[in-house]
Amino acid sequence: MGIKIRGTGSYTPDKVLTNEDLEKMVETNDEWIRTRTGICQRHIAAPEQACSDLAEKAARAALEMAGVAPEELNAIIVATISPDHIFPSTACLLQHRLGATKAFGFDLEAACSGLLFSLETARGLMSVNRKYRYVLVIGSEKLSALVNWEDRNTCVLFGDGASALLLENCPDEEDCFLASDLGVDGNSLDILSLPAGGSRNPASVQTVTDKMHYIHMAGRDVFKLAVNAMVSSCKKVLEEANVSIDQVRWLVPHQANARIMSAVAQRLPLEEERVFINIGKYGNTSAASIGICIDEMVRSGQVQKGDYVLLTAFGGGLTWGAILIKW
Ligand code: UT7
Repeated sequence: MGIKIRGTGSYTPDKVLTNEDLEKMVETNDEWIRTRTGICQRHIAAPEQACSDLAEKAARAALEMAGVAPEELNAIIVATISPDHIFPSTACLLQHRLGATKAFGFDLEAACSGLLFSLETARGLMSVNRKYRYVLVIGSEKLSALVNWEDRNTCVLFGDGASALLLENCPDEEDCFLASDLGVDGNSLDILSLPAGGSRNPASVQTVTDKMHYIHMAGRDVFKLAVNAMVSSCKKVLEEANVSIDQVRWLVPHQANARIMSAVAQRLPLEEERVFINIGKYGNTSAASIGICIDEMVRSGQVQKGDYVLLTAFGGGLTWGAILIKW
């Protein structure tokens, strides 16, 4: 059994919000944001653009790269915490928009680890049933809709964007996925969540007044947990695949904070030149971030056949994981 990544795509909206722009909105400054996070700018979707609109552009780019028509898709998985609606799922909307007439689909919610959880889910589907030849895995976020633009602790961090990976089931080829490790711990609701809008705290005048429809985060606590969890997951997958850290060409971490990525690299250990970082341009795009990195790496020729690529992520839930790929 072999599963391959046949196409990649990504999309970020045209509008760019720089650190200087943010200086006019909250009490912050470019120097603080750059040194504490590595972020210089982020892309912000237009008011009329929702999660599925960003996803569609990334999806079409991945399909075009692979030369696969939407009607050939068997399944669509959309990782997101900012779906167009609570229901129907963004995957349903995307199926219709693409004209993916043979595909079923669903949304997967694992916050910033969403792309890794979706890849693992897609692999599972494709392994048990060969009829799933083409599965489209998407990470798409309009986080600007979930951010409190008056809260400097969070609003400087996030951005909008989407990415897509097209997987193909190739029974006669080597599997590109070598090992995976995923985890959750539901005991940390207080440090990273969006408290209202679900069945626990349905939308009301009070929830809006209390700003409960925005991302709430205790950044320092998340920072420590993120580093520990990603290092541990990376070590587990390397051991499972019997691959040494020296053999890894690229570490592709979820782009939450350049200092988190450096701390993970130091502890593996791995030189910073082998860590793929583009957070400066996009900020934290949650489920979209790793796929945006992969698409950039592929289109710029920075990843070659046979390279070991180690993906790792951490996010609300808590959720975390790592996946080792042989490109
Ligand atoms: O996607 C996965 C989930 N998210 C993450 O992984 C994020 C993880 N956490 C982080 O990236 C970092 O903790 C932050 C970037 C959020 C914060 O960096 P930090 O070095 O942990 O800063 P801090 O929270 O310890 O705050 C330091 C100071 C505080 O002032 P006082 O209390 O020391 O006077 C903050 O009020 O910096 C202040 N501060 C700001 N100052 C200017 C917080 N945000 C800002 C800001 N501009 N935007």
